[in-house]
Amino acid sequence: MAWSTLATLVALFTASTSAAALDIRQSARGSDFLRFSCSQLVVERADPIVNPGQFFSPHTHQIVGGNSFNITMDPATIDPPKQSKCTSCRMVEDFSNYWTASIYFQSPENGTFKRIPQFANGQLNGTVMDQTGGITVYYMRPFSGTNKKTTVFSPGFRMIAGNPLNKQKASGPLVNCHRCLSARDRVSGGSGAPCDRSDTAEFPSKPCPGGIRVTVIFPSCWDGKNVDSPDHQSHVAYAPGNQALAGDRCPASHPVRIPQVMYEVMYDTSGPFANPEYYKNGKQPLVYSFGDKTGYGAHGDYLFGWEDGALQRAMDGLGTNCFSEQCPVLKLQTPKAANECTKQQQSREDIGSDTWLKELPGGVQVY
Ligand SMILES: *[C@@H]1O[C@H](CO)[C@@H](O)[C@H](O)[C@H]1NC(C)=O
Ligand SMILES: *[C@@H]1O[C@H](CO)[C@@H](O)[C@H](O)[C@H]1NC(C)=O
Ligand SMILES: *[C@@H]1O[C@H](CO)[C@@H](O)[C@H](O)[C@H]1NC(C)=O
Repeated sequence: MAWSTLATLVALFTASTSAAALDIRQSARGSDFLRFSCSQLVVERADPIVNPGQFFSPHTHQIVGGNSFNITMDPATIDPPKQSKCTSCRMVEDFSNYWTASIYFQSPENGTFKRIPQFANGQLNGTVMDQTGGITVYYMRPFSGTNKKTTVFSPGFRMIAGNPLNKQKASGPLVNCHRCLSARDRVSGGSGAPCDRSDTAEFPSKPCPGGIRVTVIFPSCWDGKNVDSPDHQSHVAYAPGNQALAGDRCPASHPVRIPQVMYEVMYDTSGPFANPEYYKNGKQPLVYSFGDKTGYGAHGDYLFGWEDGALQRAMDGLGTNCFSEQCPVLKLQTPKAANECTKQQQSREDIGSDTWLKELPGGVQVY
């Protein structure tokens, strides 16, 4: 079934029921993915993929996953499942690291910055509700076609989705997007397919009193050889055409269908951040930690770190015994244990969670 057909069906289903949030994330087709929450490990200027060893990387990230995370993650010396003592994800065999840029509010009154707090990704049964920061992670197999088999990542694998240097909307299907939530949608987190017509490549142009849901969709096809590439992207590719999300086909250059990783990150833009005065005359007050006021530079980073065999077992269990966080072939830890796995900032600095900053961390200029 084509993604668009599926989305339509889901939309119809939603319209015909009074229960809110019967979106793709809760549909029967949901058996095609694992989905679990990871709480905040640390928020700091570190990026072992783009700026390995750099003390400190240019802009702030919010990082989740295994606590072996460091400014250098050279596969020759760091093996996340061996070196991590805990993970902030609910799946205890997952010591991968997942990160995205932070979003700041720049006061139109005086130009100072405050980090937009994150909030729980609502109504996804289980415990995602308890999460006060962090990322919701998906691993998807093809939603269509008969061959639903995926080949999991090799140790050392890493990739990025999106490009912080984008100054305009990227061509092709939307894979990094913003969903502006009304107050009514705050708990459900919004309905419909990810990065659909309700989402924008740019920051929302109106107040979002229910928050903003940022979605990052990674490529689902791999060249079968390289665990990384100079731009951290060319060893992977999106499926062709409208198959970019959950497709079953791969181009000849990248023939291996890997699990498709997707993030959802919730930002609490309610209250003072939703003042309509800030959204007049084509202006909006948000800026990514790397200085981007457009939102086109939205991106995410992924560093594989599952224990040997665990992810493959789970992907093979989709459709039978695994769905979302319910997957008996994986071990689940309590939200409390996940929340307790944190790391101290190495770049000890004020990241503007409680105070107003005169400039973005790292002295990043707004553009
Ligand atoms: C949430 O729980 C309800 C009731 O047990 C169930 O019908 C629904 O499928 C669950 N949804 C998810 C996403 O687990
Ligand atoms: C992280 O990297 C720094 C700098 O290379 C190093 O000094 C430190 O020991 C590392 N920390 C851990 C926990 O490996
Ligand atoms: C700057 O403006 C924000 C509101 O936009 C306000 O909360 C903050 O206190 C102001 N800071 C200073 C130093 O005036």
